[in-house]
Amino acid sequence: MGARSLAVLVVIAVAAVVGVIAALLDRTDVSLVVVVLLLAGTAVLALQVFRRAGAAAAGVRDAGREVRRLRSELARHDKRSAANVRMVRRELLRSHTAVTSLGTEVRELRADISSVRSTVDASRPGKLLTQVQALEQIRDKFHVPGPLPDVGGWALDPTGLLWLIDEIERRRPAYVVECGSGTSTFWIAIALRQNGQGQVVSLEHHRKFAERTRSVLARHGLTDVAEIRHAPLVATQTPRGNFRWYDIDPEHIGPIDLLVVDGPPGTMGPLARYPALPSLHRALTPGACILVDDMHRVDEKEAVKHWLEEIPKLRRSGYMHESSEVLVYG
Ligand SMILES: C[S@@+](CC[C@H](N)C(=O)[O-])C[C@H]1O[C@@H](n2cnc3c(N)ncnc32)[C@H](O)[C@@H]1O
Repeated sequence: MGARSLAVLVVIAVAAVVGVIAALLDRTDVSLVVVVLLLAGTAVLALQVFRRAGAAAAGVRDAGREVRRLRSELARHDKRSAANVRMVRRELLRSHTAVTSLGTEVRELRADISSVRSTVDASRPGKLLTQVQALEQIRDKFHVPGPLPDVGGWALDPTGLLWLIDEIERRRPAYVVECGSGTSTFWIAIALRQNGQGQVVSLEHHRKFAERTRSVLARHGLTDVAEIRHAPLVATQTPRGNFRWYDIDPEHIGPIDLLVVDGPPGTMGPLARYPALPSLHRALTPGACILVDDMHRVDEKEAVKHWLEEIPKLRRSGYMHESSEVLVYG
């Protein structure tokens, strides 16, 4: 309450007391004056209340106007920020796509370079002679009627095949598993048949190549010792994250005496063959051998390094020939 209002109230109170006393003393004239004073005081008070209420209403109106102005400014800001966020997102998406496609190109280029390198390396006269000698040794062992499936290039080299055949003859494995089917499946099956015991299961992601290898096996009467299992590549959980690998249940494979890691192709992505050991090492028998092909490539070298760090029972056998290396389990 303001000082002026308080003063008016005090005057009204005093006038009221005076009026009451005057009325008690029958002083009508004084009472009348007091009533007039009271009315005047009340009018002054009412006037002050109206003026204050008017000022407060104007204040509320101003505040409302300010709130509306701030709201529309905020909405304008929001619109601008949403547009900016959309633009930044679009840019991020564009950069991500560019980086991904650059990564794919670099990977393909790396694969091309290492394939050119190994072709140049393999065509050196000394190396060629080694391969020819290995092929002759294989032919001498079995006298298989031709035509024979290709060797080298996409398939294992004769030296790698000769190691496989020799290993099968010496250790007489009951169960061989191969990642990536082809010529090697044929020669593994020939060696197992010669042993008179053992089976090979070859995992193949590509239906066309699964059919092709099956027809080679059928032509040579090897379907009772070799099975091509068509297993498309699916997301597979490993200690190093998700990879695309063969769609198999490792619980229902094995026990494996000999494992050949020669697929999926490196073009399927970085460390494409890494999931082989995380998925299958529990199915390996003590002393089982693992032949890893394409060890001239960065990805295969890295995959083997990770396996040796992650699987304590795994070690290098010391055998390394051309582009293959042999590991031993247990
Ligand atoms: C590195 S190769 C493995 C071949 C097999 N381990 C060998 O040594 O013959 C990997 C992939 O090549 C593909 N492949 C199989 N037969 C093929 C053929 N005749 N020509 C081209 N690619 C073939 C298959 O998809 C196979 O998984």
